[in-house]
Amino acid sequence: MTTSSRLKAIAAVSQNGVIGKQGDLPWRLSGDLKWFKKITMGSVILMGRKTWESLPGILPGRENWVLSRTMNQTEGIRVFPTIDSALSEIGDRILFIIGGGELYSATLKDCAELYLTEVLQEVEDGDAFFPNHLEWFDPVETLHECEEFKLRRWKRKPME
Ligand SMILES: NC(=O)c1ccc[n+]([C@@H]2O[C@H](COP(=O)([O-])OP(=O)(O)OC[C@H]3O[C@@H](n4cnc5c(N)ncnc54)[C@H](OP(=O)(O)O)[C@@H]3O)[C@@H](O)[C@H]2O)c1
Repeated sequence: MTTSSRLKAIAAVSQNGVIGKQGDLPWRLSGDLKWFKKITMGSVILMGRKTWESLPGILPGRENWVLSRTMNQTEGIRVFPTIDSALSEIGDRILFIIGGGELYSATLKDCAELYLTEVLQEVEDGDAFFPNHLEWFDPVETLHECEEFKLRRWKRKPME
């Protein structure tokens, strides 16, 4: 898999690197969810099976793709058994990796852009984490800053 300008990731991460706890988000940040919707609308979104199970249903206005070796095809979504099989179907669309931890770890260094919400909280007992992105990405733009979070866009450093 090579870096593609059409492959991007979006995540919300606590100060101590946590993205999930007991199969759910550790916080409720409606402001951040609005940004998530705005940024991903009209794109393909690819998520791990556990993230899919954490959602109330299909996220509208986006093609919902799920990565799983165990799930059957389900109405309204597409299920892929490998990352490469999903990437081979992107065509000229934008694909957003939307989590969770396992999927970010497997794909982050191949993403061209990262939209990262830095949640201004420390989360105890988190069980899903974001990989260290600092080695691969540089911040290029702050999209939003408030008391609860800061949203920045990061760009992949040139490959060596
Ligand atoms: N803060 C955020 O931005 C954010 C975003 C998304 C999710 N989350 C949180 O993250 C947590 C879930 O993350 P997680 O790491 O536990 O699980 P996950 O990445 O959502 O899902 C893991 C599952 O995805 C499938 N999978 C992953 N990599 C694969 C590969 N290379 N090939 C084929 N299948 C693959 C496997 O499904 P099978 O077992 O079916 O094969 C695996 O068990 C939840 O708490 C969720 O709320 C947070």
